[in-house]
Amino acid sequence: KSNAMWGGRFAAGPDAIMEAINASIDFDKRLASQDIAGSRAHAAMLAKQGILTDTDAEAIREGLLTVLSEIERGEFTFSTALEDIHMNVESRLKEIIGEAAGRLHTARSRNDQVATDFKLWVRDQIDAAISGLEALIRALIAQAEKGADWVMPGFTHLQTAQPVTWGHHMMAYVEMFGRDMSRFNDARVRMNESPLGSAALAGTGFPIDRHMTAEALGFDRPTANSLDAVADRDFALEFLSSASICAMHLSRFAEELVIWSSAQFRFVALSDRFSTGSSIMPQKKNPDAAELIRAKIGRIFGANVALMTVMKGLPLAYSKDMQEDKEQVFDAADNLMLALAAMTGMVSDMTANVDNLRAAAASGFSTATDLADWLVREAGLPFRDAHHVTGALVAMAEKKGVDLPDLSLDEMKSVNEAITEGVYDVLTVENSVASRTSYGGTAPAQVRAQIARWKEVLG
Ligand code: ARG
Repeated sequence: KSNAMWGGRFAAGPDAIMEAINASIDFDKRLASQDIAGSRAHAAMLAKQGILTDTDAEAIREGLLTVLSEIERGEFTFSTALEDIHMNVESRLKEIIGEAAGRLHTARSRNDQVATDFKLWVRDQIDAAISGLEALIRALIAQAEKGADWVMPGFTHLQTAQPVTWGHHMMAYVEMFGRDMSRFNDARVRMNESPLGSAALAGTGFPIDRHMTAEALGFDRPTANSLDAVADRDFALEFLSSASICAMHLSRFAEELVIWSSAQFRFVALSDRFSTGSSIMPQKKNPDAAELIRAKIGRIFGANVALMTVMKGLPLAYSKDMQEDKEQVFDAADNLMLALAAMTGMVSDMTANVDNLRAAAASGFSTATDLADWLVREAGLPFRDAHHVTGALVAMAEKKGVDLPDLSLDEMKSVNEAITEGVYDVLTVENSVASRTSYGGTAPAQVRAQIARWKEVLG
């Protein structure tokens, strides 16, 4: 038999394959509570505008609450023949309240309905991502406070560069995740306009009040153009692109944790709670959570590319292609929240191996730049010459198999006469980090100032 919602002009029902490719209920049932919230706002508005009687509006309101509680209790039977969440809800409403259910769809289309439902869902996920990021930032700040003056190697090209502090490294990620938070916030501000009442694409002749439904659903205002409103998925794409950048940051940090927890580095110990073992090698403790977080960018960025590709080239306004938006966003959101929570757990639990960090910081001629700076400051050499002299000293130390502070003053003087005893002061890693007092630099005082600024922001 033909479809009860749109089958008026059809003599035959859909082929089973048609039904299978067309139905979205298996995944868009996740929009149930948003769909019902949207319908309740719409019905209340229709009644206030005199488009629905108060009796019908009341029956719809009650009926929708019943449907919602059936869904929440798992007592609702979803039907593929009814395609999607919108028609499943309406059809059940009809079973419960009868004819009045058929008046709910006045001045509305599934096009503005789905745009509204999906926006409400994405908005919740933006809020969840922001709280997940805040929890992670708090965990990073706690680590930074503990080790504001623990010295570790800073790297470029993953080669020892200059000593930095543990707190400085943790706070670098706080800046990244802070920008992610602000990106989600920006997206939320931009997307918070209600598509409801745009109807199929052209608006409606019924005297509806779009401002009323917008307000009831927590939107700042109705969308300004009905064609755009039903054709727009920018909000989903902005969510996915913000999520992709955030997942990229998570992936970089996860990679560092994988390296840092290896036997070769031993910078950190991950907790048992966030590690796994091997079924064959009894000694193993693997950083699986970090590895999976490192990998999540694959599906999250994949979702971004997939939806961007679905949307490109679509003529206005709605096309069924757009039904392919949801699974991508659902999957990306689920995995982003999981990755954020797992990273927060790992960061809170991990223990830095302070002695190993310091030893690693002191090796690899990490204070060579300090020595060159000293030659500029104390011996008046042009920086290029100082760089050259220091390079020669590094070569000498390397040949002897020692670090820079192990060279004797005579050995130093043989390279440049101007070097004095005072040079040894700048060759320790502690003095090196303490000297980097420029704004945003690695000196513990700067790191503590950065921590204080963040604590003020977070309140
Ligand atoms: N299930 C559809 C979707 O997710 C709802 C909108 C259907 N609109 C239509 N004109 N067929 O996009």
